[in-house]
Amino acid sequence: MQDANRILKLPPYLFAQIDKKIAEKKAAGVDVISLGIGDPVEPTPKHIIDKLYEAAQNPVNHRYPSYYGMPEFRVAIADYYKKRFNVELNPDKEILPLVGSKEGLAHIYLALVDPGDYALVPDPGYPVYETGCILAGGTPFYMPLTKDNGFNPKFDEIPSEIAKKAKLMWLCYPNNPTAAIAKDGLYEEAIEFANKYDVAILSDNPYSELTYDGYVAPSFLETPGAKKVGIEFNSLSKTYNMTGWRIGYAVGNAKLIDALGRVKTNVDSGIFNAIQLAGIEALSGPQDCVGEMCQIYQRRRDMVMDALDSLGIAAAKPKGTIYVWVPVPDGFDSVTFANHILEKTGVVVPPGSAYGPSGEGYIRICLSVKDDRLKEALERLKNSL
Ligand code: MLT
Repeated sequence: MQDANRILKLPPYLFAQIDKKIAEKKAAGVDVISLGIGDPVEPTPKHIIDKLYEAAQNPVNHRYPSYYGMPEFRVAIADYYKKRFNVELNPDKEILPLVGSKEGLAHIYLALVDPGDYALVPDPGYPVYETGCILAGGTPFYMPLTKDNGFNPKFDEIPSEIAKKAKLMWLCYPNNPTAAIAKDGLYEEAIEFANKYDVAILSDNPYSELTYDGYVAPSFLETPGAKKVGIEFNSLSKTYNMTGWRIGYAVGNAKLIDALGRVKTNVDSGIFNAIQLAGIEALSGPQDCVGEMCQIYQRRRDMVMDALDSLGIAAAKPKGTIYVWVPVPDGFDSVTFANHILEKTGVVVPPGSAYGPSGEGYIRICLSVKDDRLKEALERLKNSL
């Protein structure tokens, strides 16, 4: 049997590859410490688990969920966006729950992109921005995120013939993988660009709540005119340590939400109701758990910064996300440095080049590992250099 051409063009998924490497090393008896995937090690807060437990007992919740998400969950998302970002959303038309935001990032391509269309993709960027485009038969156009522009895209460097053929543009701030934050005026510029070229803006904002040193991240939708041109994806995964639960959502422009919903109703059957009820508890229950996670990640970030400092590696101190974007020392590139670390120390880090060509020269360190293991990983790293 023959694979379809579209999957022949698909690179292997970064974290699936990394999982394989981890398994191989563990099988060889190595004490592996993964600073790879952003997957919180702390448990989901108890009040959220309790709600799931209670909701899972009710047979009403065992049947098919609504294709468009429970109305109560959509209202909870609307209330959350109003309270957190002062953004008004119509729960019936401007909100779509997702089985984790990753599937939404991939499915939106089937709603917006035809073969021959371009998608404007941050480079480096979360791999699904590129692979979703390939699956839909579109062509990704990389927007380099470089240090000189604070890892923000330069819209004036996008050729107008590409912009005219582009259907959508991704933005992600606080940014994965560079941990940069949005520059002042970024969203205003993006909206101007979107209006000029009729391009949808897709803001991917799963790290909005994980910020440090007093920085508060905005929603793209706070910017005047945003809802006319775009939507925002958000997730409960990182904010409430719920990566395994698969629950996220898209909010904003009603036409884009409707288009995504038309794809999804034909592809999946929604999120287990008990998980949506727990999601309501997460968004509308006590939020101290989020502040506590920020303190934990800030402490780990500082541990990483101190270690890098002692090695003479000058990385920018992140104000958000659970990552540190680390320039590789002289004599290495991204892959050789990541391999060096793995072979010499058993510590797993993704090479920056796996996130796009402009990620060359960096590795990403993730903070979702217990303090003692992070300390151990940093000690091993120091000894290996
Ligand atoms: C990451 O590590 O970049 C993310 O956690 C991966 C994901 O969200 O799938």
